Amino acid sequence: MEHFRKLGIGFSPPAIQVWPEKKLSVNLEKIQIVAMSVQIRFLPDDVVVVAEVGEPLLQVAARAGLSIPTGCLMGSCHACEVELEDGSTICSCISGVPPGQDQLTINLFVDPTW
Ligand code: FES
Repeated sequence: MEHFRKLGIGFSPPAIQVWPEKKLSVNLEKIQIVAMSVQIRFLPDDVVVVAEVGEPLLQVAARAGLSIPTGCLMGSCHACEVELEDGSTICSCISGVPPGQDQLTINLFVDPTW
Protein backbone atom coordinates (compact mmCIF):
# COMPACT_ATOMS: atom_id res chain seq x y z
CA MET A 1 0.00 0.00 0.00
CA GLU A 2 2.91 2.32 0.81
CA HIS A 3 4.26 1.74 -2.66
CA PHE A 4 1.00 3.01 -4.20
CA ARG A 5 1.04 6.11 -1.97
CA LYS A 6 4.55 7.00 -3.15
CA LEU A 7 3.37 6.75 -6.72
CA GLY A 8 0.46 9.04 -5.93
CA ILE A 9 -2.09 6.34 -6.50
CA GLY A 10 -4.95 6.45 -4.09
CA PHE A 11 -5.80 3.23 -2.45
CA SER A 12 -8.64 2.34 -0.26
CA PRO A 13 -9.12 -1.06 1.18
CA PRO A 14 -12.06 -3.01 -0.17
CA ALA A 15 -15.21 -2.81 1.82
CA ILE A 16 -15.38 -6.16 3.42
CA GLN A 17 -17.87 -6.83 6.11
CA VAL A 18 -16.99 -9.52 8.51
CA TRP A 19 -19.99 -10.97 10.17
CA PRO A 20 -19.66 -12.51 13.56
CA GLU A 21 -19.66 -16.23 13.30
CA LYS A 22 -23.02 -17.58 14.23
CA LYS A 23 -23.58 -21.12 15.14
CA LEU A 24 -26.75 -22.79 13.98
CA SER A 25 -28.46 -24.48 16.81
CA VAL A 26 -31.26 -26.91 16.16
CA ASN A 27 -33.36 -28.48 18.83
CA LEU A 28 -33.87 -31.97 17.44
CA GLU A 29 -36.55 -32.71 20.03
CA LYS A 30 -38.84 -30.17 18.37
CA ILE A 31 -38.42 -31.52 14.86
CA GLN A 32 -40.90 -34.11 13.72
CA ILE A 33 -40.25 -36.04 10.58
CA VAL A 34 -43.45 -37.57 9.39
CA ALA A 35 -43.29 -40.02 6.55
CA MET A 36 -46.71 -40.38 5.07
CA SER A 37 -47.58 -43.66 3.47
CA VAL A 38 -50.04 -43.87 0.63
CA GLN A 39 -51.63 -47.01 -0.69
CA ILE A 40 -51.25 -47.05 -4.47
CA ARG A 41 -53.52 -49.29 -6.52
CA PHE A 42 -52.42 -49.86 -10.09
CA LEU A 43 -55.14 -50.83 -12.55
CA PRO A 44 -55.99 -52.81 -14.61
CA ASP A 45 -53.96 -55.52 -12.85
CA ASP A 46 -55.14 -54.38 -9.39
CA VAL A 47 -51.66 -54.39 -7.92
CA VAL A 48 -51.45 -52.62 -4.56
CA VAL A 49 -48.25 -51.23 -3.09
CA VAL A 50 -47.44 -48.82 -0.28
CA ALA A 51 -45.49 -45.71 -1.24
CA GLU A 52 -44.24 -42.60 0.48
CA VAL A 53 -45.41 -39.09 -0.35
CA GLY A 54 -43.10 -37.64 -2.96
CA GLU A 55 -41.81 -40.98 -4.16
CA PRO A 56 -41.51 -40.97 -7.97
CA LEU A 57 -44.37 -42.86 -9.60
CA LEU A 58 -42.05 -44.71 -11.96
CA GLN A 59 -40.16 -45.98 -8.95
CA VAL A 60 -43.37 -47.05 -7.19
CA ALA A 61 -44.56 -48.89 -10.28
CA ALA A 62 -41.22 -50.64 -10.67
CA ARG A 63 -41.34 -51.69 -7.02
CA ALA A 64 -44.79 -53.11 -7.69
CA GLY A 65 -43.36 -55.14 -10.55
CA LEU A 66 -45.07 -53.00 -13.17
CA SER A 67 -43.53 -51.30 -16.13
CA ILE A 68 -44.72 -47.94 -17.37
CA PRO A 69 -43.51 -47.16 -20.88
CA THR A 70 -41.27 -44.12 -21.05
CA GLY A 71 -39.70 -41.98 -23.71
CA CYS A 72 -38.12 -38.63 -22.96
CA LEU A 73 -38.28 -38.84 -19.15
CA MET A 74 -38.76 -35.07 -19.12
CA GLY A 75 -42.53 -34.63 -19.32
CA SER A 76 -42.60 -33.83 -23.02
CA CYS A 77 -43.57 -36.94 -24.97
CA HIS A 78 -46.37 -38.25 -22.71
CA ALA A 79 -45.34 -41.87 -23.31
CA CYS A 80 -45.55 -42.39 -19.56
CA GLU A 81 -49.03 -40.98 -19.13
CA VAL A 82 -51.23 -42.62 -16.52
CA GLU A 83 -54.79 -41.89 -15.54
CA LEU A 84 -55.91 -40.93 -12.06
CA GLU A 85 -59.25 -41.75 -10.44
CA ASP A 86 -60.81 -38.47 -11.49
CA GLY A 87 -59.98 -39.13 -15.13
CA SER A 88 -57.14 -36.65 -15.30
CA THR A 89 -53.84 -37.76 -16.75
CA ILE A 90 -50.32 -37.12 -15.54
CA CYS A 91 -46.87 -37.92 -16.82
CA SER A 92 -45.51 -40.46 -14.38
CA CYS A 93 -41.88 -39.64 -15.23
CA ILE A 94 -42.16 -36.24 -13.60
CA SER A 95 -44.76 -37.02 -10.93
CA GLY A 96 -44.46 -38.18 -7.38
CA VAL A 97 -46.97 -39.55 -4.93
CA PRO A 98 -49.06 -36.54 -3.93
CA PRO A 99 -49.69 -35.63 -0.29
CA GLY A 100 -53.07 -35.41 1.36
CA GLN A 101 -54.58 -38.77 0.55
CA ASP A 102 -54.35 -42.25 1.99
CA GLN A 103 -55.07 -44.07 -1.25
CA LEU A 104 -54.45 -43.39 -4.89
CA THR A 105 -55.64 -45.39 -7.87
CA ILE A 106 -53.60 -45.19 -11.03
CA ASN A 107 -54.80 -46.65 -14.27
CA LEU A 108 -51.99 -47.69 -16.56
CA PHE A 109 -52.67 -47.13 -20.21
CA VAL A 110 -51.68 -49.64 -22.79
CA ASP A 111 -51.00 -47.56 -25.84
CA PRO A 112 -49.93 -49.76 -28.76
CA THR A 113 -48.55 -46.74 -30.59
CA TRP A 114 -45.71 -46.40 -28.09
S1 FES B 1 -41.38 -40.23 -20.62
FE1 FES B 1 -41.82 -38.57 -21.91
S2 FES B 1 -43.27 -37.49 -20.74
FE2 FES B 1 -42.69 -39.08 -19.43
